[in-house]
Amino acid sequence: MVTGLSGPGLTEGTDAAMMIADLIDGKDPALVKRFSTSRFSLNQVPKMALQQRQVMSDYAERALPADEIDESDLKIGEGGVGMVRGEHFAVCKDQSGEFNRYSLICTHAGGVVRWNAAAQTWDCQVHGGRYTANGDRFYGLPTV
Ligand code: FES
Repeated sequence: MVTGLSGPGLTEGTDAAMMIADLIDGKDPALVKRFSTSRFSLNQVPKMALQQRQVMSDYAERALPADEIDESDLKIGEGGVGMVRGEHFAVCKDQSGEFNRYSLICTHAGGVVRWNAAAQTWDCQVHGGRYTANGDRFYGLPTV
């Protein structure tokens, strides 16, 4: 059984099915190491801790004071998470010059989104969900 494939699940699910078929046929598929439950070692713990620190920091940001965002200072393509008139928001000025102001909370499981200026998307690091500048689901798990 293979689970937890997340965003690339269609590709990795196909890889896993091929690997399982090879195992049943008595072959030694190269993908076994990639899907093995013992692929993690203790020397990877610091890297995993750093990744989780960022996620926990994002969750904490829901309750912590944040910088005030003056929407009139935003240039086209800029965005960020902060306070607008005393409330937390995710704010951006999209490519058409329109301001977009939304909750900073990812609808999937409550992560905090971050503005991705290069892609012009709101990205959630918790499970990789992404939203367009105007708040529509772009990629990944979130539901509206
Ligand atoms: S909480 Fe944002 S993608 Fe899951």
